[in-house]
Amino acid sequence: MREKLLETEKKALAELKEIQDQASLERFRISYLGKKGVLTTIMKGLGRLDPAQRPVIGKLANEIKQRLTAHYEEALEKMKAGSAGEAASFDVTLPGREPVYGHLHPITQTIREVCHIFEKMGFRVVKGPNVELDYYNFEALNIPKDHPARDMQDTFYISENVVLRTHTSPMQVRVMEAQKPPVSVIAPGKVYRRDSDVSHTPMFHQVEGLLVDRDVTFGQLKGTLTAFVREMFGKGTALRFRPSFFPFTEPSAEVDIGCVICGGKGCRTCGQTGWIEILGSGMVDPEVYGFVDYDPEVYSGFAFGMGMERIAMLKYGIDDIQLFFKNDMRFLRQF
Ligand code: DAH
Repeated sequence: MREKLLETEKKALAELKEIQDQASLERFRISYLGKKGVLTTIMKGLGRLDPAQRPVIGKLANEIKQRLTAHYEEALEKMKAGSAGEAASFDVTLPGREPVYGHLHPITQTIREVCHIFEKMGFRVVKGPNVELDYYNFEALNIPKDHPARDMQDTFYISENVVLRTHTSPMQVRVMEAQKPPVSVIAPGKVYRRDSDVSHTPMFHQVEGLLVDRDVTFGQLKGTLTAFVREMFGKGTALRFRPSFFPFTEPSAEVDIGCVICGGKGCRTCGQTGWIEILGSGMVDPEVYGFVDYDPEVYSGFAFGMGMERIAMLKYGIDDIQLFFKNDMRFLRQF
């Protein structure tokens, strides 16, 4: 009996050492110290012992129960202190972690701003394919097969008749093909050219505009673009229309604004001229109407196209086009 008791104490202490959580500790208490526990069961057998032995073994059993109870209570205290310590090290008054907010890329912001200005003037936003038929990119814009704009140098060819669009102007043809006048649309999107240096990237963004109706005049083109420039760059911005040539407009004009860097005095950015070109424009060439079945005797209209990277660079005073594509957060966070 004595052996059995000492054996039990040894086993219990070894088990207790391994216990890590409160549930196991409670199971320990029930199986050793509880009313139906091992020790109680052993003590119930005292009656069968030699009367002389009873007090000795009884005493030992009680001592063991006391010792195990003391060990059990100590373990319980430790466990409680442990979980309380964990709670104390979690500071509920700490401010929460702030989520990182992203925002639109400066080019996207610029595109939206440009479109918004024209939308207020009644233009509708349309979008078209980046992979374009030669027919829309060149042919129907009065750019014949031998025109220098079709040079392999500038155009990414997918196949003989399919290209990555080199400008957003094909949208003029697609829109006119799909609807009768009056037409007033703005077409933003990506364009592609085999060009890459400090001021060119093989992909960039343009916004195209087209307005066709009865009796549309060059004066209306000037008024529309002047209103746009003043809203985009500020009321006092100077602008001038400079005669130019595009195969799909006649007459054509390029629009310059007073240099935003030097205020027109002449600097490196404007090549000492005080002016910076921002877009191409003109009256839609009657040849183009021939491709979309519009009667040039009845309708007239104007078109314009501009590069978004350039507009954004001028607006925000950025001197390197590559910055838009480098994903450098120090740059992007400023917008
Ligand atoms: N598509 C021309 C380019 O990429 C820009 C342009 C010029 C568009 C005159 C027009 C326009 O609509 O009328 O350089």
